Amino acid sequence: MALTVEALQARAADHLLLHFARHSDFGAGGRELPVMVRGEGPYVFDAHGRRYIDALSSLFCSQLGYGYGEEMAQAAGAQLTELAFHTNWGTAHPRSIELATRLAALAPGDLNRVFFTSGGSESVETSWKLARLYHIATGEPQRTKAIARQTAYHGVTLGALAFTAVEPMKAPFGPPAIEVRHVSNTNAYRDDADEATRCARLLDEIEAVVAEEGADTIAAIIAEPVQNAGGCLVPPAGYWAGLRRICDEHGILLIADEVICAFGRLGEWFGSVRNEVVPDLLTVAKGLTSAYAPMGAVVASERVAAPLYDPGRSLAHGFTFGGHPVCAAMALRNIELFERDDVLGNVRRQEPQLRAQLERALELPIVGDVRGAGFFWALELVGDAPDGRFDADARERLLRQFLPARLLDAGVIARADDRGDSVLHIAPPLICDAALLTDLGDRLHAVLEDAGTFMGL
Ligand SMILES: Cc1ncc(COP(=O)(O)O)c(C=O)c1O
Repeated sequence: MALTVEALQARAADHLLLHFARHSDFGAGGRELPVMVRGEGPYVFDAHGRRYIDALSSLFCSQLGYGYGEEMAQAAGAQLTELAFHTNWGTAHPRSIELATRLAALAPGDLNRVFFTSGGSESVETSWKLARLYHIATGEPQRTKAIARQTAYHGVTLGALAFTAVEPMKAPFGPPAIEVRHVSNTNAYRDDADEATRCARLLDEIEAVVAEEGADTIAAIIAEPVQNAGGCLVPPAGYWAGLRRICDEHGILLIADEVICAFGRLGEWFGSVRNEVVPDLLTVAKGLTSAYAPMGAVVASERVAAPLYDPGRSLAHGFTFGGHPVCAAMALRNIELFERDDVLGNVRRQEPQLRAQLERALELPIVGDVRGAGFFWALELVGDAPDGRFDADARERLLRQFLPARLLDAGVIARADDRGDSVLHIAPPLICDAALLTDLGDRLHAVLEDAGTFMGL
């Protein structure tokens, strides 16, 4: 028998540890833990039966929304009865082979070699290990350092955490496992320079870091096509071409962390396509199955993968569930559904509508900037300080007390975040139509208007 709302709350309080959450916010004396019980199209419903637009796609994952359960279940069911599980440890099964082949065909350039994982952090770890193994095999084992960008989030396992540049997530866990230099990200808000000047400055900074560290000590540069943490930091024109040039000149590998940006989030199979650059390694997860199952992958270029085929060389890395056949079957079905229902086309057609809906909020004093691409946007929230930034107390009141509750009240799931500046992340499922995006825009406008009043603006 299904648990009552009260029983769910009580048992969650007693037993369930939440991810990236302050447990004391919930339960006795705090607010009710949102418990989602059902999904339908772009909506989720909580245990009280209240409906929300999932304007964060369950952390940038549910590209297809929640309406494809039966078709996904059919793919999973067929696989479960055929072969529920087998590993890719020196063996394989048809679905991992088929999915690797599909991903190689969809990925740009000669990104043709696919290693499966169970999620984003594992993909980032794997990309690093493949980069290291490449350098060792090509006679440059001294390339042990990496370059990543300020405020970026690349995951929480200890290797990925070294690339992550969000200090409170790192500090408790000791010295980083990898030596990483964090360079400026591509945040253009509050930067008066024109795009070309800004781009040149950002690339010069990276060149300087490469020179300072010694070019032949650097294994990889890792970056997202559009950086999430900090609020959808879109690169200036020419930036990714510049990263490619710097890497090529100095023998450094370029890793595109596409855990968020792949699978339609930017209107392309891979965000790198939008940036018109082919990286050496590309990480995916989240949207690979539209979150109907947990799965990730790294796609490597022919050059990076080549040493793995040297006689006698073995790849000293693997995950038990990497390439799980049921997840692979669902990822294959996900790709079929994207094609059948023209999901990429929908993102391209609706991007101007989503942008326009969000930009309406610029008339409110609390909204300083709206930035993003595809179905991946952030609104920067500002106060009346000269630089518009809220202090810690104000951020606590606005981002952790007012907005989470008011958004839910307005029937919207979105994320207020201050890993960098104060932003509201908006990334709806890729199947949303114009009417739904207008509805979302109306709701957000009302919430942000109230937020401004709450903050005395
Ligand atoms: C860019 C990026 N890389 C890596 C990760 C880690 O993915 P996961 O949470 O699946 O381990 C995330 C998660 O949000 C991410 O956004």
